[in-house]
Amino acid sequence: MKIIMLGAPGAGKGTQAKMIAEKYGIPHVSTGDIFRANIKNGTELGMEAKKYMDKGLLVPDELTVKILLDRVAKEDCAKGYVLDGFPRTIHQADVLEEALNKIGDKIDFAIDVDVPDENIIRRMSGRRACLSCGATYHIEHVPPKAEGICDKCGQELVLRDDDKAETVKNRLNVYHEQTQPLIEFYEKKGVLKSVDGTVDMKDVFAAIVGILGE
Ligand code: AP5
Ligand code: MG
Repeated sequence: MKIIMLGAPGAGKGTQAKMIAEKYGIPHVSTGDIFRANIKNGTELGMEAKKYMDKGLLVPDELTVKILLDRVAKEDCAKGYVLDGFPRTIHQADVLEEALNKIGDKIDFAIDVDVPDENIIRRMSGRRACLSCGATYHIEHVPPKAEGICDKCGQELVLRDDDKAETVKNRLNVYHEQTQPLIEFYEKKGVLKSVDGTVDMKDVFAAIVGILGE
């Protein structure tokens, strides 16, 4: 099963993608997590990506597309995957489709997690992220067991550099301009499903399971 998560920054794509990955036994592939891991490790790719991420801009397609295609070509992705944060432009969607066509494959579901802009900024300021394992918390909704420490790997939790209010506003603008058109793109392909992302995360997940099947 090949799934794409769509939705604004902070809509809950990562939260839901992790639950999908666990339930259906497929890898969670997040381009944002891949970039953050590279930043943390000080790689050249990380340094380049950070210039754009800190401003709330998209990392150029030349950097992003190859990384994603290499990742989904790995053995563990053979039976499917859930993509979180990719594609983010029509060009990225076209490249992915072309790559899948070549192996006689296609995307099964594009799930749009729908959350209005007003809710987003409030959510982001409370988010805490683990840059080591990619786990996400929220100081009110999903607090870690020990303050500031990741439950899963024991590393320190941080407020992402791009979660500052001003940058979140830029990310929302970029989302509306460059990523939102993908909703229509996948609707035309007949694979789009929308869920209300404003309800409790367990209920969002229940709606997704209703779409994907038990
Ligand atoms: P990326 O890491 O993909 O960030 P994003 O799309 O901006 O999305 P977020 O990770 O911020 O939000 P999310 O939807 O995953 O929400 P989450 O589940 O954490 O990308 C970062 C940057 O990398 C981009 O800006 C760009 O520069 C670059 N990049 C990445 N991919 C790229 C690409 N393909 N092309 C070009 N550039 C790329 O939830 C948010 C918070 O809300 C959490 O605290 C969570 O606990 C809480 N929460 C979740 N669900 C609920 C709920 N139902 N109720 C209450 N709280 C909730
Ligand atoms: Mg995310």
